[in-house]
Amino acid sequence: MKKLKVTVVGAGNVGGTVANIISQRGYADVVLIDIDGDIAKGKAIDIQQQLAISNSDARIIGGSDYSLTEGSDISVITAGFPRKPGMKREELLEANSKVVKTVTENLIKHSPNTYIIVVTNPVDAMSYLAFKVSGFSRNKVLGMGGVLDTARLKYYIKQKLNVSYNSINAIVIGGHGDEMVPVMSSTTVSGKPITSILNKEEIEEIINKTKNGGAEIVSLLKTGSAYYAPGMAVVRMIESIVFDRKEVLPSSVFCQGEYGIDGIFFGLPVVLGINGLEKIVEVILSEEEKEMFKRSVQSVKNTIEVMNKLPI
Ligand code: APR
Repeated sequence: MKKLKVTVVGAGNVGGTVANIISQRGYADVVLIDIDGDIAKGKAIDIQQQLAISNSDARIIGGSDYSLTEGSDISVITAGFPRKPGMKREELLEANSKVVKTVTENLIKHSPNTYIIVVTNPVDAMSYLAFKVSGFSRNKVLGMGGVLDTARLKYYIKQKLNVSYNSINAIVIGGHGDEMVPVMSSTTVSGKPITSILNKEEIEEIINKTKNGGAEIVSLLKTGSAYYAPGMAVVRMIESIVFDRKEVLPSSVFCQGEYGIDGIFFGLPVVLGINGLEKIVEVILSEEEKEMFKRSVQSVKNTIEVMNKLPI
C-alpha cells in the first residue's frame, strides 16, 4: 500500500492552511513547496511540531525543490501574487500566469498522474492554463472557487435566519469573481425554498453580500486576502476525491458543451470522486439567474482571451 501524498505549491496563507489541515487529519503526507524554500521549510517544521501535540503521524516536509513532490496523488497550486493597490487585473493575470505555467510544468515532471487543484486567482483562467500546460484530461484539473462562494452564501443566510449550516442547502456556480451566480431559486432552509422565507430585497442583499464576501475580508485584513475558508474549501474537494465521496461540489472545470459552454473553465456543480471530475450536474436556473450566468460566462471568456494573448 502506498500512503497518499499531497503537494501544496505556495506556502503562503492559503497553502499553509491547506497543508496544516491535511497534516492534522493524518491520511496523507504533505509536501509544501515555495519559491522561497525557507518559508516552506519553516512552516513545515512548525506544522510537524504541532503534530507532536495533536498526535498525528502524517509527515510534512517543505522546500523549493520539486523532487520532493515525486509521485504526488494530489497537487494544489496556491502560488502567485495577490492584487496590490494600483495593480490592474491584467497585470495580475500576467504575473500569475507565469507562475502557474512554471509550477504546472514542474509538478507534472515529477507526478505525471497527479490531480491538480488550482487556487491561484483569477482561478478560472489559471485552471485553464494548468489544464493546457499539463495536457491532462479534464477530469484531473479543477479550480477551487464555488465551494468558497457557497460557504459565503451560507454564512450570510445563517446570519439572516439564525439556523444551522446543516439546514441550509445552497450552491453558487459561475466564474469565481464579481460575476458569480448564487442560485437562490433552488436554495432551501430546512427544506423550504428561501424565496418563500425572505422577500426580494432581502434575497438581493444576501446575493450582494456574497459577491462582496472576499472584498470585505480584504478590507478588514489590510495585508492579504481570506485563507481559512479557502483552505478548507480545497480540503473538502480533496477529500471528496480521495475518499470517493462523490459529493456534488461547485468547481471550475473544462466545459465541453455542458450548459452550452465550450472550451473554457467555468464553475459548475460536479460530482467529485476517485476519478476526479466524474460528472457535471444540471441545476435549474430562473430567468434572472440565466442572465447572470450568461454575463458570468462572458466575463470568464474575456479573461481567458486576454490571457491567451499574453507573452507567457
Ligand atoms: N513558485 C512557488 N511559489 C511561489 C511562486 C512560484 N513561482 N511565486 C510566488 N510564490 C509563493 C509566494 O512566495 C508566497 O509564499 O506563493 C505564495 C503566495 O502566498 P500569499 O501571498 O500568502 O497568498 P495567499 O493568500 O496564500 O493566496 C494565494 O490564492 O486565493 C488565491 O487570490 C489568491 O492568488 C492568490 C492565491
